[in-house]
Amino acid sequence: MKNFISKSTLVSAFLLVVVFIFSAKTITSQEVEDQREFDYMRGSGRGPDKWGVLREEWGICSNGTLQSPIDLLHERVEVVHNLGKIKKRYKPANATLKNRGHDITLHWGIGTAGSIRINGTEYALDQCHWHSPSEHTINGKRLALELHMVHRNLEQDKTAVIGVLYKIGGPDSFLTELEKDIQNISDTGIETHKEIKIGMVDPKHIKTAGGKYYRYLGSLTTPPCTEGVIWTINRRVSKVKLHFCGTLSQYMQIN
Ligand SMILES: *[C@@H]1O[C@H](CO)[C@@H](O)[C@H](O)[C@H]1NC(C)=O
Ligand SMILES: *[C@@H]1O[C@H](CO)[C@@H](O)[C@H](O)[C@H]1NC(C)=O
Ligand SMILES: *[C@@H]1O[C@H](CO)[C@@H](O)[C@H](O)[C@H]1NC(C)=O
Ligand SMILES: *[C@@H]1O[C@H](CO)[C@@H](O)[C@H](O)[C@H]1NC(C)=O
Repeated sequence: MKNFISKSTLVSAFLLVVVFIFSAKTITSQEVEDQREFDYMRGSGRGPDKWGVLREEWGICSNGTLQSPIDLLHERVEVVHNLGKIKKRYKPANATLKNRGHDITLHWGIGTAGSIRINGTEYALDQCHWHSPSEHTINGKRLALELHMVHRNLEQDKTAVIGVLYKIGGPDSFLTELEKDIQNISDTGIETHKEIKIGMVDPKHIKTAGGKYYRYLGSLTTPPCTEGVIWTINRRVSKVKLHFCGTLSQYMQIN
């Protein structure tokens, strides 16, 4: 009996360690939530040139070999003619809008708003967020805005991002739908909240459909800069009203 107990104690201790390691790994490969730990200003001591030394586990930000963003005409990037084997199965779900300090994020929560399948691997939609100006460039030029839809496969600890680029023009229907809430949590908004629940949001309203896509293997674009991220960016550039870039870009500094 005693033997049995100590054996099972050992087993549970072992499992605890395994669970701890697994969750630590899961946490480190996701985007950092409190974004005031780093910023986008060169010379601030916390800018992109320093991300790799701010924390030991962010080293890959400085010395990685598959880092994002890149120029989309780079040889690493392939143009694929349809979403290939990507299958999208999005559905409306309750969402939360968060002001993460350096950006605004629309969070559904993994598994609630559907998923995509790339090459037989399922990635559940987790959140989307915006960068203004764009992070990826085309022939060295930044566009006005870039949307990232972040998908995760937790078992395999893998990430797939679908991106949409915008230039200034007519209104984007998805952003118009969120306009009042984005104003509400922006730092210059009518009211300022860290996060607000905004009810049902349908990811299908994001214009990801197009004929051609840029595809490459890269990384998260913010610390911990984890590599192995599958990037798929719509080659068709969408349009957005100028004032959205202003609202969304107060969190960004061009670097
Ligand atoms: C990258 O930097 C990290 C932390 O400084 C270090 O542990 C790692 O060995 C470096 N990797 C390469 C490929 O240089
Ligand atoms: C969304 O949230 C509302 C309010 O909290 C709740 O009543 C509703 O059941 C939720 N819907 C879904 C599909 O989870
Ligand atoms: C999908 O699979 C094909 C064939 O196995 C491979 O060439 C391609 O690189 C894979 N794409 C991704 C994004 O993993
Ligand atoms: C802003 O968000 C708060 C918290 O959810 C809510 O109480 C308030 O009504 C919102 N204001 C506007 C103008 O939407």
